[in-house]
Amino acid sequence: MKEIVLYGDKVLETRAEPVTAFDDELVALVSEMFDAMHKGDGIGLAAPQVGVSKRIFVVHIEGDRRRVFVNPEIIETSQELVEYEEGCLSFPGLYFTVTRPASVKIQAFTEKGKPFTLDADGLLARVVQHEYDHLDGKLFIDRVSSLKRERALVRYRRLIRV
Ligand code: NI
Repeated sequence: MKEIVLYGDKVLETRAEPVTAFDDELVALVSEMFDAMHKGDGIGLAAPQVGVSKRIFVVHIEGDRRRVFVNPEIIETSQELVEYEEGCLSFPGLYFTVTRPASVKIQAFTEKGKPFTLDADGLLARVVQHEYDHLDGKLFIDRVSSLKRERALVRYRRLIRV
């Protein structure tokens, strides 16, 4: 079982590398990512969060099927922006209201190497954007005001020491 990497580890702030081989190892990694995500009660997880600096993320929202995104590209974002409270498995106990586009169009490959395009809105659009950020080493705390971020990090450091 892969452990979730917590904030403070450099891998979370590193731009991940594209996947070059669609092989059994990739399929196994994706399966391990779903296991780690479900164990943490999350609905999305990016490979850097299990210490693997590769451009892969997985999403599983209740009522929807499991979705895998390898080498994803967000190719369109709506002008309409929405606020939503986000959490992140790498920041246990921390939640922020983050403003992002309401919908996105994304291109990616499945773990078997099959290309697809997806129009996402609602919660799916939100999770896709949060996880996509992880692949660029960008974290949800980077998308809130510096004052809010500083306060939250003080709280977070207190939390993870317990
Ligand atoms: Ni996250």
